[in-house]
Amino acid sequence: MENIAWGELPFGYFKTDYNVRAYYKNGQWSKLETSTSETLNVHMAATGLHYGQEAFEGMKAFRGIDGKIRLFRWQENAKRMRSSAQGVMMAEVPDELFFQAISSVIKLNEKFIPPHGTGASLYIRPLLFGSGPQVGVKPALEYMFVVFVSPVGPYFKEGFKPVNVQLVRDFDRAAPLGTGHIKVGGNYAASLRAADRAHKEGFSAVLFLDAKEKKYIDEAGPANFFGIKGNTYITPDSGTILPSITNMSLRQIALDLGLNVELRPVAVEELHTFDEVGACGTAAVISPIGKIFDRSENVSWEYSTDGKPGIISEKLYKTLMGIQLGELEDKHGWNTIIE
Ligand code: PLP
Ligand code: COI
Repeated sequence: MENIAWGELPFGYFKTDYNVRAYYKNGQWSKLETSTSETLNVHMAATGLHYGQEAFEGMKAFRGIDGKIRLFRWQENAKRMRSSAQGVMMAEVPDELFFQAISSVIKLNEKFIPPHGTGASLYIRPLLFGSGPQVGVKPALEYMFVVFVSPVGPYFKEGFKPVNVQLVRDFDRAAPLGTGHIKVGGNYAASLRAADRAHKEGFSAVLFLDAKEKKYIDEAGPANFFGIKGNTYITPDSGTILPSITNMSLRQIALDLGLNVELRPVAVEELHTFDEVGACGTAAVISPIGKIFDRSENVSWEYSTDGKPGIISEKLYKTLMGIQLGELEDKHGWNTIIE
């Protein structure tokens, strides 16, 4: 499509031509349907609307240097969506249906895949929710699975430049034994007020602590947290954060690059010992963090004063992007070519 300014795309909704849908009823999934409508016709008593029976995923497809379309680690997103479905008692989407939906919605909207070299990609948003009616609090008997796509640019307007984040102690996004480890809408609803306040106060994102002790870093609003200390990549081990597929991939890339990797609780007291810190996720890729401001304690930690990302963060970013764009060898078999 020649009239899209690919290089200036924000991370946001962009209307494309098609989405795909499947319906779960009487214990089974329907065939996949293609739709050109941007709206859904939903029962007013749907559990997805009332009781938060809802989960989503986020993944990306890229136009490679060789012109091929690459989908990054979709099997992990399919698995995580099954885990989210179990977590809020929804019908699970079988991997075959998940892949069929993703590959068809990409192909149907092929002209919206940003060209190689523009820095943009095709964001894919699978959504699963209880569509059947209930008034008592119980799981629906019917579910809807929808996948739409949107060409996107960087999640943080800064792109691959350090962002400032605000550490908060007066909000939690997830309870200790709650739903923080699955990708359900309620976690994001719970993060909105803290994020909105942080934006108004001049920060790109919020850093949440563990809800129980307020001692350890949990994650950033829409992304995991990592720190670099010397030759080591360190990232929180926590039961209340979303297991990020980007983070999992960065841990492997770090090992491949000869770094050490530590997956363990990261105490707030340790923040001053990191050489580099960042947020990582599908949307965020790697967003280096320049400064963390602890709002309640009124202290801050600075990691970049010259507006540049740290050397190791940059190396990790370039390697991950290089693999996704087909510029570097995909030695772990993470990409699926969509033909
Ligand atoms: N943490 C949260 C709360 C997220 O919403 C996301 C985005 O999916 C991530 C982390 C990063 O996960 P992934 O790398 O799988 O996209
Ligand atoms: C993602 O990285 O895919 C996310 O889910 C982040 C946000 C848009 C919710």
